[in-house]
Amino acid sequence: MNYPQIRLRRLRQNKILRELVSENKININDLIYPIFICEGKNIKKEIKSMPGQYTMSIDIAITKCNEALLLGIKSFLLFPVSKIKDEDGSCGISQDNILQKSIKILKNKFKEILIIADVCNCAYTIHGHCGTLINGDVDNDTTLENLCNQAVSLAKAGADIIAPSDMMDGRIKKIREKLDINEFENVPILSYSAKYASAFYGPFREASDSSPKKGDRSTYQLNYSNSREAIREGQLDKIEGADMIMVKPALSYLDIISKFRKNFNLPIVAFNVSGEYSMVKAMSKLKWGNEIKLMMEIITSIKRAGADIIITYHALEIAKQLNNENEN
Ligand code: PBG
Ligand code: ZN
Repeated sequence: MNYPQIRLRRLRQNKILRELVSENKININDLIYPIFICEGKNIKKEIKSMPGQYTMSIDIAITKCNEALLLGIKSFLLFPVSKIKDEDGSCGISQDNILQKSIKILKNKFKEILIIADVCNCAYTIHGHCGTLINGDVDNDTTLENLCNQAVSLAKAGADIIAPSDMMDGRIKKIREKLDINEFENVPILSYSAKYASAFYGPFREASDSSPKKGDRSTYQLNYSNSREAIREGQLDKIEGADMIMVKPALSYLDIISKFRKNFNLPIVAFNVSGEYSMVKAMSKLKWGNEIKLMMEIITSIKRAGADIIITYHALEIAKQLNNENEN
C-alpha cells in the first residue's frame, strides 16, 4: 500500500500548476501610490529613510504620475508637505494650499486618474498634532469643524476621494453631512478606521514634517494591543457613512485586516506604511534579502489577509514586476 495517499505536493510540482492553483494574486488595479507634494519648482528630494521615494514639487509630480500611469497605476494618495503652519491647521483649508493646488493641476492634466486626498491637520499645525490643542489635549469636537472644512475644500479642488486620517470620534458623519450640503454627495469617504499608534510611521513623519513636537498620538490612535476596539471603530465608521474602511499599518495588523474582511462588506483598504517599506529597503541594502521577493510576499500576504485595495510605496515596483512576469 502506498502511503501517504493524500499528497499536497502533487499540486506544487511545477510553476504552471502552482500558478493554476494559486489563491491570491496582486492586481495592478488594486494599488494606490502615495505621493508627497511640496511647494516650489523642479524639486525632487529623496526621503532619506525611504530610498526611492521623494518629496516633489507639482511639476515633478506630473512626471511621476505620468510614469505611474504608463505602468498601469491610476490611483494616487496625496500628502502635503507644508511650510505654512498655524495653531489649529486651518491653513490647510485654503484653495491656495499646496494640496488643493496640486489636485487641481493633476486632475486637469490627466483624464484617467484618481486622486485621494488625505484629510488631517498634522501637516499644518505648529505642534504637529492631528487636531486643535486645548489645555495640552487634542480637542475632539473643535477639531471636527476644521476637518469638515478641509474635506470640502479638497473636494472643491477636485479630489475624487476624501480620506480622513485624524482618528477623531464622529468625524465621518460630520464630514459626510458637510460634503452633502456642499453638493459633493458623490464624493466617497475612505476612512482610516483602524489607525494604530505605530512606530512604523517614523519615515513618513520625516517626509511630511508632521511629528508631534510634544507627546505622541496615543490619545487618539488605537493601542496596538487591541483588536475588538478596531471592530468598534469600523462599525462606527460604517454607520456614520464611510464608503471604504482602512486598516493601518498592514503588516503587523494582518489579523485586523482579516477581521475587517469577516465583519464588513465594505471595501477593505490596507496601508502598507512607510516603515514597512523602509524595512524592505534596509534589508536589501544590507544584502540580507531579495528586495523584489520580499516585496511581493508582503503585498500578497496583505491581499491574502483580506484587503481589497492596498496603499503602498512599492506600487510602481510591483507594477514593473507584474508587467515583467506577464512578458516572460
Ligand atoms: C497623518 C498620516 C500619517 C500617515 C498617513 N497619514 C502619520 C501619522 O499619523 O503620524 C502614515 C503613513 C505612513 O507611515 O506611510 N495623520
Ligand atoms: Zn494627522
